[in-house]
Amino acid sequence: MNETKPLRAAVVGLGMGKQHIKAYGAAAGVEVVALCDPDTDRLAAARDEFGIDTTFTDADELFASGAADLASIATPNRFHAPLTIAAFDAGLHVLCEKPMAMNANEAQQMVDAAQNAGRKLGIHFNHRMNPATQWIGRFAHAGDLGEVYFARTFWHRRRGIPARASFLNMANSGGGGMIDLGVHMLDQALFVMGYPDVASVTAQTFTKFDRKDVPDITMDVDDFAIALIRLANGAVLELEISWASHHDHPEELGFQVYGTEGGARRLTQNYKEVQTTVHRREHGGLNVTRMDQPPRDLISVQQDFVNAIREDREPACAARHGLITMKVLDALYESSRLGREVILESTG
Ligand SMILES: NC(=O)c1ccc[n+]([C@@H]2O[C@H](COP(=O)([O-])OP(=O)(O)OC[C@H]3O[C@@H](n4cnc5c(N)ncnc54)[C@H](O)[C@@H]3O)[C@@H](O)[C@H]2O)c1
Repeated sequence: MNETKPLRAAVVGLGMGKQHIKAYGAAAGVEVVALCDPDTDRLAAARDEFGIDTTFTDADELFASGAADLASIATPNRFHAPLTIAAFDAGLHVLCEKPMAMNANEAQQMVDAAQNAGRKLGIHFNHRMNPATQWIGRFAHAGDLGEVYFARTFWHRRRGIPARASFLNMANSGGGGMIDLGVHMLDQALFVMGYPDVASVTAQTFTKFDRKDVPDITMDVDDFAIALIRLANGAVLELEISWASHHDHPEELGFQVYGTEGGARRLTQNYKEVQTTVHRREHGGLNVTRMDQPPRDLISVQQDFVNAIREDREPACAARHGLITMKVLDALYESSRLGREVILESTG
């Protein structure tokens, strides 16, 4: 690889994909050179907005064109695995949106395809890279919280069911709020806890609301989920997710962590960070440390992915983390279906 030339990125799927274009635009060593979406209106709008003239309506044509070294896949979930594998077959590296796939079986095929092709696969866990999660993670990873034995993580929306058919139907999305929002919260909590092996899960999902305004689709996925996740190291993780609920805020998300030496909390309400703190009992009193300044050395998932390609290392938001989250999500949905706890084989 030529070290001086920027890597050539393509973005496939131009809803969330536009955030990838912006993030690559702010990153070093990479340039977005091609766009792809079968929706010609969206394609033309993105071409004009970002001034990127090489466009494709078919991802296979893009991959075969040789125009790009790497692709962001930001399509509806059901296309993540086939498009990622097609990109590897054509020799590209892939940064795939979350959830990594529809299920763990597909996610495993993606990991295998990356390995066979000798290409990098990263997952767009952008919430994990936010300052609050990274800041708390650094205390936890330095041992300042002691042994972390409990985390509660949650994302509640009052009225936040996506108004797009690709989110509302199991066959398109692989699940509802739990796979959509839950995967971010699961990843953040497991990241703070050091990604320990998951031993077993018990969960219940509900579908109590609807999006009757979205034509031609019957919503058959969860809008509320609660789960207890037992980790192999003895810790537990509680997960609560709602796309819609009678919550007192339009949106609230965060997590709380208890360790033997300290605790931590991240809380955002209505899209604003309201609390990022670490609490430790010191000199007989409670010492609360607030995040006044975010860590200065944070980089985007895209910048890390580009660096990982150049440095020939695993991306921080690694495919193996994506695979673990998919194994856990599969087990959570199975537990809800069966009405009992589900034991996992090693998730590592
Ligand atoms: N990381 C985050 O914070 C975040 C936020 C929103 C969405 N997402 C994820 O991004 C993905 C897309 O979500 P969205 O909100 O942009 O959905 P969306 O429906 O708004 O956009 C998806 C786009 O993909 C296009 N598309 C469909 N099939 C395609 C194909 N075969 N090839 C190329 N393009 C294709 C569609 O035409 C559409 O323009 C989902 O997996 C979602 O979970 C992630």
